[in-house]
Amino acid sequence: EAHDHMTFCVFGASGDLAKKKIYPSLLALFYEGRLPKSFSVFGYARSKMTSEEFRERIRMSLGCRIDAKENCDEFMEEFLKRCEYVHGNYDEGADFEKLDQEMLKTEEGKKAMRVFYLSIPPSIFVPVAQMSSRYVQSKTGETRVIVEKPFGRDLESSRALTKALAAELSEKQTYRIDHYLGKELIENLTVLRFSNIMFQPLWNRNYIRNVQINFSENFGTEGRGGYFDNYGIIRDIMQNHLLQIMALFAMEEPASLDAEDIRDEKVKVIRSIRDIDIDNVVLGQYKGKTSGSNVFPAYLDDETVPKGSNCATFAAIALFIDNARWDGVPFLMKAGKALHKRGCEIRIQFRHAPGNIYADKKSKPISRGGGGTAGDSSNAQCNELVIRIQPDEAIYLKINNKVPGLGHKMDRSILDLTYKSKYSVGELPDAYERLILDVIHGDKRLFIRNDELEAAWKLFTPLLETIESENIPPELYPYGSRGPIGAHYLASRWNVRWGDTN
Ligand code: BG6
Repeated sequence: EAHDHMTFCVFGASGDLAKKKIYPSLLALFYEGRLPKSFSVFGYARSKMTSEEFRERIRMSLGCRIDAKENCDEFMEEFLKRCEYVHGNYDEGADFEKLDQEMLKTEEGKKAMRVFYLSIPPSIFVPVAQMSSRYVQSKTGETRVIVEKPFGRDLESSRALTKALAAELSEKQTYRIDHYLGKELIENLTVLRFSNIMFQPLWNRNYIRNVQINFSENFGTEGRGGYFDNYGIIRDIMQNHLLQIMALFAMEEPASLDAEDIRDEKVKVIRSIRDIDIDNVVLGQYKGKTSGSNVFPAYLDDETVPKGSNCATFAAIALFIDNARWDGVPFLMKAGKALHKRGCEIRIQFRHAPGNIYADKKSKPISRGGGGTAGDSSNAQCNELVIRIQPDEAIYLKINNKVPGLGHKMDRSILDLTYKSKYSVGELPDAYERLILDVIHGDKRLFIRNDELEAAWKLFTPLLETIESENIPPELYPYGSRGPIGAHYLASRWNVRWGDTN
């Protein structure tokens, strides 16, 4: 459906997400000429502020990626001209009517699409959805609503939220964001899998020994402890981001690139994941560390965290998919805060090459005599494919290769697709840019469907209940380390070694 204007409204206009992601993404899209010609941006929140003050705030906070580009300031000023602010309560019909009036002024009678971003705490999702759907829906075009996690904290609360939102908004209007789906290499995962004959036949239990999905951050929950303690790392990272990656990695080929076809396959594979056994789970929490004059705080040092909290800031889980493709292949997921580095990657370890004549050099020394080349060969190792989602996006395949020259030394070489050196596009668009643009285009491929959300909670809720009802204590690990030792025991139980960069 074609619209002549877009009105974009951020509820929770002065929040962190708005400042760090939403406005910068909108500005970047504007800079790239991706926004509709005629558009307006509204901020709505409780604090009193004029539109001019609002613009000033955006101006101050926009350390956006277009900063270094030409004419950035001009674009910024053009963009700010289209920004308006309305303050009001989140449950007051009259305030929302006022918002509607202001929107109508900027729409000047055009056929307008309205996009609402609920960048607000989950406790007010429902009233804001209610108010905006009753008073602020576009009367001339479509209204689309973006919601951001947490979508509840277990199956029951998520169902209740879905139901309450569904009373106000149709599923078609609802865009559940998981920003990991907007990351370049995650979008590329299906391209890699389904357009390369090389990978297609290998992508199953016959050739893949194990898969790792690793996420790490080199900072703690500083400042977010209050939010985090109520959720923990499993809800914060695994139930959404890492499970989504796993689904795209493991799903069957969709009938088409249509959003429903893709999401059908994702739901199916999530439903095939075996119930998680607590013995396949390792929990950790970071403790403080002093190194020289630097003091790194423990999770429990955060004043917003309840004393003695057992909340996990690290988890490692072995998962299994009970279907024909993946039977018996361990999928190891690992996520942690306050680890030694920041990164996210998928690591696929292949089986050894059967009957490999290069497998054991010790019993078959090769020598051409002279020059000490004997014994300089090393054994063939298993192939490994790594998809590095961030930072420094890359896809590389470890292969065995002969070291060039007269000897017979072999080493593990890398077929390397490092984005920085291959593509000179500069910095890649932020995930939010891609996702906001998709909403504007009405493309739902990268958004979470309600049954997908339900399947994800079904998988993790029993585990979370066990952890919480038994108050299972996490294993402590020092700030800046590689996480608790237990994670290594878990991996070795499944005959896996965590990849070297995590
Ligand atoms: C968010 C989590 O969803 O993702 C945060 O709530 C986490 O705890 C963040 O830091 C990581 O996102 P990114 O894009 O920085 O890897």
